[in-house]
Amino acid sequence: MKLYKCFISCILSFLFCVNGQVSDVIDNNLTTEHSLELTQSLNLARQERIQEVCNRLNLKYSLEDIPDNQLEHILIDESHRFLYCYVPKVACTNWKRILMILTGKWNDTDVLSIPAHLAHSPGMFRNLSSVPKDQRSYMLDNFQKMLIVRNPFERLLSAYRNKLEGDTPSAKYFQDRVGRRIIKAFRANPSNESLELGHDVSFREFALFLTSRADELADVVTNEHWQPITSLCHPCLIKYTLVGKYETLLEDSVLSLHSINASHVQFPRLAHTSGTSDKLHRYYSRLELPLVRKLYKLYKRDYALFHYDLDNIVGFDLG
Ligand SMILES: *[C@@H]1O[C@H](CO)[C@@H](O)[C@H](O)[C@H]1NC(C)=O
Ligand SMILES: *[C@@H]1O[C@H](CO)[C@@H](O)[C@H](O)[C@H]1NC(C)=O
Ligand SMILES: *[C@@H]1O[C@H](CO)[C@@H](O)[C@H](O)[C@H]1NC(C)=O
Ligand SMILES: *[C@@H]1O[C@H](CO)[C@@H](O)[C@H](O)[C@H]1NC(C)=O
Ligand SMILES: *[C@@H]1O[C@H](CO)[C@@H](O)[C@H](O)[C@H]1NC(C)=O
Repeated sequence: MKLYKCFISCILSFLFCVNGQVSDVIDNNLTTEHSLELTQSLNLARQERIQEVCNRLNLKYSLEDIPDNQLEHILIDESHRFLYCYVPKVACTNWKRILMILTGKWNDTDVLSIPAHLAHSPGMFRNLSSVPKDQRSYMLDNFQKMLIVRNPFERLLSAYRNKLEGDTPSAKYFQDRVGRRIIKAFRANPSNESLELGHDVSFREFALFLTSRADELADVVTNEHWQPITSLCHPCLIKYTLVGKYETLLEDSVLSLHSINASHVQFPRLAHTSGTSDKLHRYYSRLELPLVRKLYKLYKRDYALFHYDLDNIVGFDLG
């Protein structure tokens, strides 16, 4: 087991190294058999890990027991026999854009030519919640099923920065709907401006909001942007066949497109944001350790299932 783990982490560090230093070279060869095979072996190892952790969790319920609306994150592309469970803050805009191309909602194959807001517009895709049970089982048994995951604290920080710190229209909307209520509930002497605009929620207030589970905030605490991936996609009840990670997004996306015979669509090669771990450390060090622990507890299953740890954030692993 130990040896196996080492094997996987060696492959991982290999990917990181190659990726960081000679990215042009590997880019040219990304679609070669060799790198697809390597990516597929990582994908299979991730599936095995998920299976192992799920067995240990020994859940007492099945897919039959959960309400239909808990399947609404699973988007359907029937023509490519493909299901994609989208997770906000994990490349979901680009993958929704791709889904638009695959399902014929967009003509061009240039992914970035599609306006982001269009990809997020309500009703754009069919999802599994409204599919009759027998048809749903057929899809789950026979289609490729993709999930892309990310370190939970990294995803959380990304959501905070994007929705509560930002000043885009979408951030303004969140500040108005959620920020104001967080300030009202968790700030001792808020200014009128803060109460009115909800524009300056601190990261600590955000963490308090998530961990206190106050009844009066129940409707926003379950927002998809900070819901654990486990609650959005049910990886113990649905056996995903393509498990990608944010860290290897490009390779994993190429594999997925290959698996559904859609290699004519190119996943956008965006420059990776730099300094992520610095940023993580900066924000999370503003929280006292008990609060970090409480926050970690909320995402404990995501951490275990997707094999992440807290080393790079608080300097040691809480698990
Ligand atoms: C890409 O892979 C092929 C073999 O599949 C190899 O001949 C070629 O040199 C590689 N190109 C680069 C730039 O590494
Ligand atoms: C899922 O489909 C239902 C029924 O068509 C729809 O009401 C709901 O908004 C969809 N959810 C998402 C997240 O797309
Ligand atoms: C597809 O392209 C044609 C011709 O350019 C255009 O008329 C049509 O509106 C496009 N359809 C969609 C769904 O974008
Ligand atoms: C804040 O609002 C209250 C009530 O509306 C008002 O009495 C007070 O003067 C306001 N304070 C400032 C600094 O504007
Ligand atoms: C993709 O192509 C292969 C080989 O032609 C075929 O066996 C497979 O069923 C296709 N998959 C989908 C989802 O169309």
